[in-house]
Amino acid sequence: MAQKGLVELFDKTLAEGKKIAPAERLFLFNGGLYPAMVCRPETLKILDTFEARSDDVVLVGYPKTGTNWVGQILTELETASGKYDEEERKRRQQKEKDLSVFPYLEFGDSDKFERMKKLPSRRVIKTHLAPGKMPKSIFQKKAKILVLFRNPKDTAVSYFHFTKGINLRPSEETWDEFFPDYITGKVPYGLYLDHIIEWNNYLDDKNVMFITYEEVKGNGVLALKRIAEFFNFSVSEQEIESIVEKTSFKTMKDNAPVTHGEMGKSLFRKGIVGDWKNTFSESQNEEMDRKFEEKVARTKLGMMLKYEEYCKD
Ligand code: A3P
Repeated sequence: MAQKGLVELFDKTLAEGKKIAPAERLFLFNGGLYPAMVCRPETLKILDTFEARSDDVVLVGYPKTGTNWVGQILTELETASGKYDEEERKRRQQKEKDLSVFPYLEFGDSDKFERMKKLPSRRVIKTHLAPGKMPKSIFQKKAKILVLFRNPKDTAVSYFHFTKGINLRPSEETWDEFFPDYITGKVPYGLYLDHIIEWNNYLDDKNVMFITYEEVKGNGVLALKRIAEFFNFSVSEQEIESIVEKTSFKTMKDNAPVTHGEMGKSLFRKGIVGDWKNTFSESQNEEMDRKFEEKVARTKLGMMLKYEEYCKD
């Protein structure tokens, strides 16, 4: 797996991140809230110098929408499509390891954009950023962008467990403390519903494709076929089936110690649809439903997310 060489980087980041004083775990930059464990102001400051390539494979998703999973799917599809032999595959993995590039665009040190120039095409690039904060060259170069969504209730529960698991936020909070911050956007990357509203303006952009966690979970083969077609990956039906197997929750969770080190324990939790039902109280349900209705439900993208199906009992 392409991420294998990055495990040392993840372990180091997690160990150093745990030393950050609670009050400094989040910081504001240009109106957005970021986690100090993985983001640095100096990197965000020069984010716009990132030079996209037209053949970049870009994955965008708010935290906890399944970005590690779909990112791995993209890496596997790219590798299968590239028809690299074993030697070339190893060479590419080694290069990634040597360049030590954090797989999310906005994470890590500010020299990474220079190092990224040395990565062979097609690069798989992930980000949690909303479109207005993404480097402009991604749009200018017309790189293809896959935008991933997940129902906002499961996303919230996943976000709570993750931030608590790795001390990403200021306090070791309870769910009841986390929820008001989630619903008002006082979490890293802000309010999830705002991301949905922003992406709603890109519905007619032929370089942007939308997909949901629930869709990939529901019919992996069909979802991967759609993704492959969008990125012009040349893969067989058999290769698609094998990638669905390789990226199943169980396989990725079992591999997590090798691919993600310590962080894997918090990243691969349950991997199911509907876990929110075990966590949301009646009043939290009502609040989330109201907010979704107010802000997103009537937008075209809001309708595509099938809120009634995934977020109502
Ligand atoms: P849960 O916490 O609900 O289990 P991200 O990668 O964007 O941080 O998202 C993490 C969420 O994706 C977690 O959700 C995680 O378990 C889930 N996930 C990771 N790999 C998965 C896979 N192969 N299949 C399904 N879900 C997966």
